[in-house]
Amino acid sequence: MLRYFTAGESHGEALVAYLSGMPAGLQVDQPFLDRELWRRQQGYGRGGRMKIERDTAHILSGVRDGKTIGSPIAVLLENKDWKNWAESLPVEKGDPAKLKRVGSPRPGHADLAGALKYNFPEARYVLERASARESAARVAIGALAKLLLRELGMEVLSHVVSVGEISLQGEASWEQIHSLHPREEVLLNCVDPEIEQQMKAEVDRVLKTGDSLGGVFEVVAHNVPPGLGTYAQWDERLDARLAAAVMSLQAVKAVEIGAGISAAASPGSAVHDEIGYQQTGPFTGFTRARNNAGGIEGGVSNGEEIRVRGYLKPISTLRRPLQSVDFATREPVKAAYERSDVCVVPAAGVAAEAMVALTLAGCALEKFGGDSMVETLRNFRGYLEQLKSY
Ligand SMILES: Cc1cc2nc3c(=O)[nH]c(=O)nc-3n(C[C@H](O)[C@H](O)[C@H](O)COP(=O)(O)O)c2cc1C
Repeated sequence: MLRYFTAGESHGEALVAYLSGMPAGLQVDQPFLDRELWRRQQGYGRGGRMKIERDTAHILSGVRDGKTIGSPIAVLLENKDWKNWAESLPVEKGDPAKLKRVGSPRPGHADLAGALKYNFPEARYVLERASARESAARVAIGALAKLLLRELGMEVLSHVVSVGEISLQGEASWEQIHSLHPREEVLLNCVDPEIEQQMKAEVDRVLKTGDSLGGVFEVVAHNVPPGLGTYAQWDERLDARLAAAVMSLQAVKAVEIGAGISAAASPGSAVHDEIGYQQTGPFTGFTRARNNAGGIEGGVSNGEEIRVRGYLKPISTLRRPLQSVDFATREPVKAAYERSDVCVVPAAGVAAEAMVALTLAGCALEKFGGDSMVETLRNFRGYLEQLKSY
């Protein structure tokens, strides 16, 4: 069983991620992990922090001589800014004058709900953990999940569908999405360069006004065989597991599988993907004329591309802050502001890739098992043969 946790505060010493349940013998590609972390830091509209640090994954355990050994993997991501925060976030009792209070909760952030829940007089410790800095730790272990999936022939990538009201028209093909991946300069990770420029102009517009933007990303999992997940039990459905995984990311407020949202307003004949048959195909001879189901029917992957969209609300830290209340005096004041991103749709897409990869890797290991890659691959190939001869 694949299990994972993260720990760490946004400005603390480091983030740590634990991943347990990976089979032994998986080759670990360190530059790939660091490249994934770099991808999460990109995108037009990010705050200043991305410029001061470049994340690297420091593997502490579970990998020896370049391969997984079946024991839990711990990965550490140093926070390069820690030196400026050590006195503000001391582990031991510190100087109260050095603490950086967040005195008025930001509407839309975790500040007020978290302070009430944990009985904090202000919101510093709330945002330190609620912050999406945490998603970097998920990207590190998501990269390991991607390496496992790669051995099974599967790939997971994302692209940006919309930023504010600027939207890509039509569906992006796998080839288009794939072609974004090697870019050394990431703007808004949109497959249409003209729309991408319009998205950039939209970010510039809100930057000037001190506002922020949300948007939509799409994660596509390519070459996923039919049979991952099951309708047999509610919490084993692949759609449910993917929805929870993507929704668990900071600022994601809706998740769509395939054409889920427009399907609700369309007749069945316009939605369901007609079935055909030809002798050969990637997994079986069954074909579909389109993929409105987003690769999942009955909570089971059906052999088509898996398409999951995440809908992000706009960032809640505003340079032109909304109305709030002072925690101490209860007087009306403007909400707190500290250095912040303005638009994070491409980065959220990368973090969602990690969550989709971890989910698919978990489902694959449940189906194919194996304590070593040799065993997992043998089981996987046996299943592919079974599908071929169906
Ligand atoms: C990649 C990424 C970066 C983010 N950066 C910021 C940020 O700089 N400032 C901010 O206020 N919110 C940022 N957020 C969103 C907050 O973390 C999120 O809104 C907050 O934790 C409250 O959680 P909720 O929106 O899920 O309710 C970011 C989200 C993501 C996915």
